Amino acid sequence: MITRGSQFKARVRAMAARGVGVCDHPDGAGVFFVPGTWPGDFCVFEIVKVERRYGEARLVRILETSSQRVTPLCPHQGVEEGACGGCPWMMASYESQLAEKKAAIAYQLERAGFLKETTELLPIEPSKGVFGYRNRAQFKTDGKVMGYVSARSQTIAPIEDCPVLDAPTRSLFHAMRKTLPNDAWLPGEGFHWNFLDMDSDTTMETLEVNRRRPFKQGNEAQNRFMKGWIEEQLSHVSRGTPVMELFCGSGNFTEVLSKMGFQNICASEVSKKAVEILSSKNFPGVFPVATNLFRAGSWNTLKKTMREPGVLVLDPPRAGFSLLPRFLKAFPSTHTLLYISCDLPHFIRDASQARKRGFFLKSVQPVDLFPHTPHVELLGLFKRG
Ligand SMILES: C[S@@+](CC[C@H](N)C(=O)[O-])C[C@H]1O[C@@H](n2cnc3c(N)ncnc32)[C@H](O)[C@@H]1O
Repeated sequence: MITRGSQFKARVRAMAARGVGVCDHPDGAGVFFVPGTWPGDFCVFEIVKVERRYGEARLVRILETSSQRVTPLCPHQGVEEGACGGCPWMMASYESQLAEKKAAIAYQLERAGFLKETTELLPIEPSKGVFGYRNRAQFKTDGKVMGYVSARSQTIAPIEDCPVLDAPTRSLFHAMRKTLPNDAWLPGEGFHWNFLDMDSDTTMETLEVNRRRPFKQGNEAQNRFMKGWIEEQLSHVSRGTPVMELFCGSGNFTEVLSKMGFQNICASEVSKKAVEILSSKNFPGVFPVATNLFRAGSWNTLKKTMREPGVLVLDPPRAGFSLLPRFLKAFPSTHTLLYISCDLPHFIRDASQARKRGFFLKSVQPVDLFPHTPHVELLGLFKRG
């Protein structure tokens, strides 16, 4: 019976795009997606949702474990309700995590028609550390416990330690925990929790309840790699070429462009706070502009600062940049596009749009910023013509 609550046995044959295992129902009833499993696992599953040709299932028991499974270092790791859910891939070896990321990118690129002959998919850059790499986190607290939001729930999974945090962030986390129970962190009427946004620059004195900190790349060593990649791609571009940088944050990549000697850099971003920080850095050649880049016509605001950018550097949020075709149309002199993306499906969508506007995707450099998660950063080099 293929109904909710019924059980079946199957082997996980692949990972789906959103980072969960895929198996075929033995009765030919379609594919099922199962969090917390890895290719090679042979398990008993329970159906939690059925659609016409696919469904979702829950892992009940592993009968044979994948040869790529390892024991997770973190006691809070898991995908079931009550577990942390932040590192769903920690139960697989790091090599196999990287292989799955690379396979997903290769598959999506090929499916969208970016062929090996024209687009070079470079080897994924592994994280320098697979623990102690993360320099920022957002905790939830109800004043009694603190932790992350448990998977598929509206509850806090209380955390005693988080081994992916880097040393300063981890020691701040322990200092924060010591203040529990903390009346200053009690949520207001009608709220489940407050949030505590922190990064390696935060201290107990600067920690603020329910205040987002400006964006920061989450893995310092990989951030240095990304900066090096930008420098390498633009090394042969004349320094007189105007550069437009969109979604610049507080100037993480702007600094690279300025240090390289580009003299005309328009750096744009919606967060006034981030633009303020960037302006205070006084990078030579940089003109910061605070604007909402998802507002149709925002290119007109930017055109007032810069008429003919030759290079466009883009690092949008997860949703990608749906207005990219309009920007490319508004700036016909752009010959080089560097696209830094943290989301594979949206990168593929935007790359396909750029192709329609005459840009070809020369290479894709994947970078692993977040070991033990399905996330992967993509650095795309596009050239016009
Ligand atoms: C992935 S971060 C990149 C930041 C920067 N490049 C860095 O490396 O730190 C994306 C940035 O897009 C900004 N952003 C989000 N929505 C925006 C919008 N509508 N218009 C302009 N910027 C936006 C965010 O504030 C954030 O700084």
